Amino acid sequence: MAVDLLLGLQWGDEGKGKIVDVLTSKYNIIARFQGGPNAGHTLVFNGKRHVLHTIPSGIFHEDAKNLVGNGVVIDPVIFKKELDKLEEQKVDYRKTLLISRKAHIILPTHRLLDAASEASKGKAKIGSTLKGIGPTYMDKTGRNGLRVGDLELSDWKERYRALADKHEAMIDFYNAEIQYDLAELETEFFEAVKLLKSLTFIDSEEYVYQSQKEGKTILAEGAQGSLLDIDFGTYPFVTSSNTTAAGACTGLGVAPNQIGDVFGIFKAYTTRVGSGPFPTELFDQDGETMAQVGQEFGATTGRARRCGWLDLVGLKYACQVNGVTQLMMMKADVLSGFKTLKVCTAYKYKGEVIEHFPYNIEPENVEPVYTEFEGWSEDLTKMSEYSHLPKALNTYIDFLEKALETPITIVSVGPDRKETIFR
Ligand code: GDP
Ligand code: IMO
Ligand code: MG
Repeated sequence: MAVDLLLGLQWGDEGKGKIVDVLTSKYNIIARFQGGPNAGHTLVFNGKRHVLHTIPSGIFHEDAKNLVGNGVVIDPVIFKKELDKLEEQKVDYRKTLLISRKAHIILPTHRLLDAASEASKGKAKIGSTLKGIGPTYMDKTGRNGLRVGDLELSDWKERYRALADKHEAMIDFYNAEIQYDLAELETEFFEAVKLLKSLTFIDSEEYVYQSQKEGKTILAEGAQGSLLDIDFGTYPFVTSSNTTAAGACTGLGVAPNQIGDVFGIFKAYTTRVGSGPFPTELFDQDGETMAQVGQEFGATTGRARRCGWLDLVGLKYACQVNGVTQLMMMKADVLSGFKTLKVCTAYKYKGEVIEHFPYNIEPENVEPVYTEFEGWSEDLTKMSEYSHLPKALNTYIDFLEKALETPITIVSVGPDRKETIFR
């Protein structure tokens, strides 16, 4: 069986967690392939809200296996907190959670390095979640990293020490004013590693291969969004992994010709958290309304998300790079009540009108060109069938489908599992 992918097409927080949870009943295995605890994936069902950071969003389904793939970076401390919460919810994760031996480990000093690097950048900071993501991937590509499989070796603590000592020297180099008590952080870390070591470690690429051969269905869950991709995103204001479809091949060991459907998720408008260019960003009442109605606060850091109109230039680019076969539009309910909606269909770029995503989308180079749409006022959260959706929303959807040359198969009208309309 081919592996299906589910990816965010914007700057993250599109609603990936919700849709993975909704789709899990159709899959045997849910697998995360990149990112780490910088992600915050929200699931809402039975009146409760759950936020997952490293653990795949299929974990609440007893019948599905949940794999943390080799491309993911794991912070044992945050992982433990997630597991403790699952235990409170009586989720029997030991039966279903699998971890790749090749996944890299985030050390406490990786987090400190992240903080020191950001502090030293001043105004040019990335706006990182400060979870140690960049430094951990740097150690991975620099061939210095500590992997989950290393925890099974007798000398792993020596390896840990050597790496942490090196990091301490690097932290000094930044000369940034960050306060920390490494001994305290390490106590917490070693305690959390104990729990991690009690879980099931596997050679995940072999597991994925054999599962495919046995006809098992697999859904790969992306983190972040395409515009935060290390290669194709708004560099340097990006994350440190490939968030796009190719990341699933390297992050799980799936061959490119074994990819099936690619589900691309986007919000009916756009948000971004952290620094970096955002051509359709709003600084007026419309932006405030989106933030308020959409409750746009980061699921990991609690930071306010910047809001703006839908950017079709960015969306088209993301569809291209990922080979999206089906689109899912989230948070349509948040746009109820706007008299007029705008969609950016092109950029004025250095005196020219362009429809592709250029090298540089800094505000001094790019001005959005908008097409306007009539809004709708109906409360969508009570609607369960496509035929009930307001005419103006259908016009909006039809326009996007045509422009993106891809069908929109799910329209999400609220955070709950049930507030999902299939077309
Ligand atoms: P993810 O990182 O892509 O999983 O998305 P997040 O969980 O960070 O952010 C999405 C937010 O929107 C969460 O608070 C969800 O509960 C919420 N959400 C998801 N879908 C919808 C929707 O259709 N309507 C509304 N109003 N909220 C939604
Ligand atoms: P999910 O999976 C939104 C952003 C950060 C920052 C930049 C780099 O929930 O969609 P990093 O911590 O990776 O060094 O931060 O990327 N960022 C996200 N924004 N959703 C996410 O994940 C994000 N993960 C990282 O805000 O701008
Ligand atoms: Mg999120």
